[in-house]
Amino acid sequence: MPKVKFQPSGRSIEVPDGTTLFQAAKRAGLPVAASCDEVFVCGKCNLEIVEGADHLSKQTQKERDLLQAQGRALTDRVSCVTLVLGDCTVRASYW
Ligand code: FES
Repeated sequence: MPKVKFQPSGRSIEVPDGTTLFQAAKRAGLPVAASCDEVFVCGKCNLEIVEGADHLSKQTQKERDLLQAQGRALTDRVSCVTLVLGDCTVRASYW
């Protein structure tokens, strides 16, 4: 199973292929900032990808639009729609 590491908390968790980054963080006991309850509308659940960007599902135009609306880099990911497909490291300033 892929391993997801969370910075700066130092926590990590193994999750089944296809788990969203949002759910992986939740299972690790790390809340994700959001206001649409994983409906893919708010874009506030964005996370910085530190390592393993190529081990995540492909980004869609809607995801890019939400990241831009939040003033985030397009290398960040909207965690409620980004699937873990391999090892990766993600960061949120509030962890
Ligand atoms: S929780 Fe709102 S877009 Fe992910």
